[in-house]
Amino acid sequence: MNISPSLLSADFGNLRAEAREVESLVTYFHIDVMDGHFVPNLTIGPPVVNSLRVGLEKPFDIHLMIDYPIEYAPRFDVTPEDIITFHIESKDEPFRAIDQIRELGCKVGISLRPITPITAVFPYLDLVDLVLVMSVEPGFGGQAFMPESLQRIEKLKNEIGDRNVMISVDGGINDTNVKNVVDAGAELIVAGSAIFGKSDRIAAMRALIAAAS
Ligand code: DX5
Ligand code: ZN
Repeated sequence: MNISPSLLSADFGNLRAEAREVESLVTYFHIDVMDGHFVPNLTIGPPVVNSLRVGLEKPFDIHLMIDYPIEYAPRFDVTPEDIITFHIESKDEPFRAIDQIRELGCKVGISLRPITPITAVFPYLDLVDLVLVMSVEPGFGGQAFMPESLQRIEKLKNEIGDRNVMISVDGGINDTNVKNVVDAGAELIVAGSAIFGKSDRIAAMRALIAAAS
């Protein structure tokens, strides 16, 4: 199982140190970028994300919860291993957003809110590297996992078939539900409060990995 810890639940005054503490067990660092319009919360943007690179080796999984991904995606410094994920409900046309992120030289992800039908992403499956299924309403960490997400993940997995598209799931994942999420088809687990909400983050990640198997 691959884990992408969400730094939204880390101490924003101490981001690099908090990220380094867990780096040995992570596949990506999940970074939640919010604009106060697409979601009712504001977080960090390109200057903070770009300076966070120093001293970190693992790639970034940048989750854009913003209205205008085409305008802001180019402001992130990316490597070919990074993923930039935009929302299908943003104000930009999805085919254009995919092309533009692809041109930046990183992987492309598409995400959707829990209320958006899972079939909405099906037309883009030949063009993206990742689908990020939100299992809470985007905007805040620490919310409860929506169990109906499991059927959505299964349906998506079935539609992906043998395409090389990874399913990631974000929101409310902890050691009581992670196995169900992985069994439904998720390959990349995003977890914020289940890791950074604990005093021993390495133990929390190990518990999550153990619970998934
Ligand atoms: C919510 C964010 C999530 C959030 C997950 O809008 O996209 O990445 O940080 O946090 P938990 O795991 O606490 O639900
Ligand atoms: Zn996220």
